[in-house]
Amino acid sequence: MSDEGSQKILLGVSGGIAAYKTPELVRRLVERCAAVQVVMTAAAASFVTPLSLQAVSGRPVRTALLAPEAEAGMDHIALARWADHILLAPATAHLIARLAHGLADDLLTTLVLATTAPVSIAPAMNQQMWQHPATAANVQVLARRGCRLLGPADGEQACGETGPGRMLEPAEIAAALLPGPSAQPKSALANVPVLITAGPTREAIDPVRYVGNRSSGKMGYALAAALARAGARVTLVSGPSALPCPVSVTRVRAESAADMHAAVMDRIADCAIFVAAAAVADYRPADPMPTKLKKDADSLTLKLVRNPDILTAVAALPDKPFTVGFAAETDAVEAMARAKLERKGLDMIAANEVGGAVGGFEADDNALLVLWPGGRRALPLQPKPALATALTQLIAERYAASASG
Ligand code: CTP
Repeated sequence: MSDEGSQKILLGVSGGIAAYKTPELVRRLVERCAAVQVVMTAAAASFVTPLSLQAVSGRPVRTALLAPEAEAGMDHIALARWADHILLAPATAHLIARLAHGLADDLLTTLVLATTAPVSIAPAMNQQMWQHPATAANVQVLARRGCRLLGPADGEQACGETGPGRMLEPAEIAAALLPGPSAQPKSALANVPVLITAGPTREAIDPVRYVGNRSSGKMGYALAAALARAGARVTLVSGPSALPCPVSVTRVRAESAADMHAAVMDRIADCAIFVAAAAVADYRPADPMPTKLKKDADSLTLKLVRNPDILTAVAALPDKPFTVGFAAETDAVEAMARAKLERKGLDMIAANEVGGAVGGFEADDNALLVLWPGGRRALPLQPKPALATALTQLIAERYAASASG
């Protein structure tokens, strides 16, 4: 098979449950015109068969370091030189540890030592294992050596726990490794500049205290990731959030509503779509103290003043982008949200009921009722990443309709 004109990717698969996604990952890489050679660790074969990976990559999968028939063709040094890029996905905690220590006890780790090609790592493991200081230290060692880290994502795990450690989706990994258009059908969002706000804001009381809210940023970050997967050029203006920046997204940090307002207004002229997913504080302390407030008095009254409404400000621009707002309502969700859509002059609003048993700020699942002038669609309760993909499709549809109409 000729590799001419292709990016030659050596995909190293180690033994984690996410290995079942690697046939899909190979397909996504091939869609982006890559030639893919798969190398598996012994444990990986418990999760995905070499035959499946051979079928999608079109090449025999390599597993053993000293297999005479394979070494007679392309030996492990030739294989290390062949690769333009080494991608390790999924990379288990064990593989990461072996790489950090420079072990060469199987074909995959030997190749990583023998190559001069860039190495990217898509970790996948239980969240506790990912957060263990040993793993964190190993990852740092690899990062210092120039390895590129792709993920992990945050979310529900195969073990039933929730947290950081999920392997990024195959499409995200492929897009991060080989940016540029894939051979997939063209999305209405391809190359469209999108600005999105996410997370909470913090309004300073003094240098150490603030008024804040319970937003985790999960919905906004999931939406930024889904928009980027759909091909949009995404800038995420984020309030304080511990979430990692999604792949292929440019993140700008903002602390307060005023910071977020300024960050949005500085960039909005270049954007075709604006999505306001942040939980912006409506009020801020009128006179933040320059030094730490002492507990001298028995009571304290905090005077609050209104913050600028970023969404309203964007929707009022003479050359406004396609503008999407969120609405958190406790009752009469549809009526309240439709009134907000009209009052703020939005193109679309995604409303959810808060204060009930399901969905909302810190939850992993959510449901949305999406409204636009003359239409509505209910997106049922589901994990936020899936919901974000469904909302992105709807944004793409409505944006395309508005652009052609
Ligand atoms: N929003 C914003 N800037 C603010 C406040 C809100 O951009 N200062 C955006 C949010 O990101 C969200 C939408 O406005 O997209 C809805 O916010 P919400 O607080 O639910 O509604 P309000 O319009 O503030 O009305 P109310 O609080 O009275 O329901």
